[in-house]
Amino acid sequence: MCGIVGYVGSRDCSEVLVSALTKLEYRGYDSAGIAVFENNEIITVKTKGKLKDLEDKLGAVGKPQGHIGIGHTRWATHGEPSDVNSHPHSGARVTIVHNGIIENYLDLKEFLISKGREFLSDTDTEVVAQLLDYMYNGNPVETIDSVMAELKGSFALGIMFKDYPDRVFAVRRESPLIVGVNEGECFIASDVPAILQYTRDYYLLEHDEIATLTREGVTFVDEHLEPIEKELKTADWDMEAAEKGGYPHFMIKEINEQPSAIQMTITPRIKNGLPCLEECGITLDKIKDFKSITIVACGTAMHAGMVGKYVIEDLARVPVTVDIASEFRYRNPIVGKGDLVIIVSQSGETADSLAALRLAKQKGATTLAIVNAKGSSIAREADMLIYTLAGPEIAVASTKAYITQLSVIYLFAFELALAKETISPAECKRLVSALRKMPEAVQYVIDSCEEKCKFIATKLINAESLLYIGRGLDYALSMEGSLKLKEVSYIHSESYAAGELKHGTISLIDEEMPVISVATQTDVIPKTISNIVEVKSRGATIILVCTDACARKLKEGVADYVIEIPHSDELLMPITAVVPLQLLAYYTSINRGNDPDKPRNLAKSVTVE
Ligand code: G6P
Repeated sequence: MCGIVGYVGSRDCSEVLVSALTKLEYRGYDSAGIAVFENNEIITVKTKGKLKDLEDKLGAVGKPQGHIGIGHTRWATHGEPSDVNSHPHSGARVTIVHNGIIENYLDLKEFLISKGREFLSDTDTEVVAQLLDYMYNGNPVETIDSVMAELKGSFALGIMFKDYPDRVFAVRRESPLIVGVNEGECFIASDVPAILQYTRDYYLLEHDEIATLTREGVTFVDEHLEPIEKELKTADWDMEAAEKGGYPHFMIKEINEQPSAIQMTITPRIKNGLPCLEECGITLDKIKDFKSITIVACGTAMHAGMVGKYVIEDLARVPVTVDIASEFRYRNPIVGKGDLVIIVSQSGETADSLAALRLAKQKGATTLAIVNAKGSSIAREADMLIYTLAGPEIAVASTKAYITQLSVIYLFAFELALAKETISPAECKRLVSALRKMPEAVQYVIDSCEEKCKFIATKLINAESLLYIGRGLDYALSMEGSLKLKEVSYIHSESYAAGELKHGTISLIDEEMPVISVATQTDVIPKTISNIVEVKSRGATIILVCTDACARKLKEGVADYVIEIPHSDELLMPITAVVPLQLLAYYTSINRGNDPDKPRNLAKSVTVE
């Protein structure tokens, strides 16, 4: 999604803006631009392409010399990626950058055209720039407030008025925006990593609040233009956490950070060998009466929810539905008082997940958020909250966030099963103890499987399509494995419940279709092996991810490549088994010459519908 930055201070603004934008590259983008006050004039330089292209253009035309400006990376929504559609956009006296969608932009555009305004681009953003200019009354904050009343949708804006060359304004509705502060300088950004190289102190801008940034500091007003005081926050992770630290890509760095991410996430939530979620607002008493659970999320977070379904149902005997947030929010879901709705989200800002949370609350359900980004909208609005303590996840393809989401879901499932008295405290302690071994087990899998995955990935370079199969928890995990590969390698892949293959999908199998099978669940391993034999006999190349115990029983020639992982508690196997699937995706992406950190067309944080 689009990234916004802004700067007011005494540094070289063009440099600050470009450097801050590089820290938002992970959000996904297709064009970039900056606008800087130079001798009281706003100079805009923008281009289709990557930040490198912007830097080349700045080199060619000369970078604007000044200390106050705004910058943007654009992820196209309205209008193709092109120079003219890139941000910043301007009206005669106003220049803006924008993240999000203005839903009523066509009506507004029509109105402005009827008033004689002309438009250069296809974007909804230019409509806001022109509207600000049209409604400008000499007072920027009042003007922004009046324009906000006309806008529908979710968005964040960085704004400069030609008449006020000493300041930058910022406002948001739904889409995230923070204001960083430091001695003699202020920043705006879509996310904390953008400003970490300058400061760790920041404010979270709330809906419809307007910020005015000058060298003297920042002031805020609410939607009624009343001045407000806001709480200063301090980022608790530093630059290093958002840098590659010697790894070629964030994705492989983050895969390697998984053992410590699990450790960080579970350790504070375990006391006397049992789960302890009191600090998250969760007690046995509070959760014992839930009749049903719905887990709502998007993408990888939804796949973590799929694992949650199997684990919670198995341990706590409560029915669990998993729903895609964009479906849940528009289908009048059956949730209400006495039901628990769990929203899982790395960013805590995914538009559909946030809307699902609000709908669930409106219907009277209790909500629990499992979120990685501190202070994000979903984190703030849910009734109960468990943070995954994965640290910043920069690569678009989620790895360490997923594994920490699983860890939290396990802890919650154990706690719920205790509350429901479907497991004894002794059994719970055994499970918690098994979970505590996961950081070490994941480290072992990384160390023992990486080379093999690298090698097997060379066999996938030319595949046009792949199938991931498994049963039960292995099926839930296959979904994530398949998504990971798709995201970063651009090879089509599908996940399928192994037992369902012969009801249609097996017709796709031939020599050209590799099949990746996950087999970690003892009860169903013989069944999955039968399915493997069926696809193998139709020519498929088989890559099998299985436990060492399963590998020992495997007949010669059943699988072409076997990736063994150590056997742990069966319910916890997805935590270790996901690692080879992540590594296969990563190395396949590299082999195909892709950039796994910034896959085409994808955005890290999807803050629009
Ligand atoms: C995007 C990302 C995915 C992520 C999904 C949900 O599509 O590319 O990696 O799983 O959004 O994001 P969330 O922040 O809600 O977990």
